[in-house]
Amino acid sequence: MQARGPLMIEHRLIERMLSVVRNTLSEVEAKHKVDPVFVDTAVDFIRVYADRTHHGKEEDILFRELKNKQLTAEDRQIMEELIEEHVFGRQTTKELVEANTRYRNGDENALTDIVANLQTLTEFYPRHIEKEDKVFFPSSRTYFTDEEDQAMLAAFREFDRNMIHEKYETLVDKFERQK
Ligand SMILES: [Fe+2]
Ligand SMILES: [Fe+2]
Repeated sequence: MQARGPLMIEHRLIERMLSVVRNTLSEVEAKHKVDPVFVDTAVDFIRVYADRTHHGKEEDILFRELKNKQLTAEDRQIMEELIEEHVFGRQTTKELVEANTRYRNGDENALTDIVANLQTLTEFYPRHIEKEDKVFFPSSRTYFTDEEDQAMLAAFREFDRNMIHEKYETLVDKFERQK
């Protein structure tokens, strides 16, 4: 398998989650209410899987390795766009969390913000994924030898191996700090 393999497999799961969110959004709009626990769960997926685990491998391994290569101006431009899109995703998720807290505390107007932020995520993410799958990953592969590509694949596996431990260590740390 090439290094981009796991990243593309992760894209497929992110797309499936986005479909779940899209279907839930139709119900939310019809019923004018949302289950805040669903939002929590979607946020956990976005933060831990899509951002920390998936974008983490892109930014900390693939993009970092590409910074040592002589990228064409066009490829460099696309990589900067992708990084900015990750930042935008984080900001949107933060706003979603804030709206969900307001909603939980009884502010029904926060529903509009929850819907808007979820909608933003479902609209922008598929374009981001397509740009990586069809444009950036194929062109970035040309900068690496087969050995370098396989070394990245191994680094991805190692990165993933730590994720489940990081997730729950972070959770316990957070509870301890709340005491
Ligand atoms: Fe990305
Ligand atoms: Fe990606």
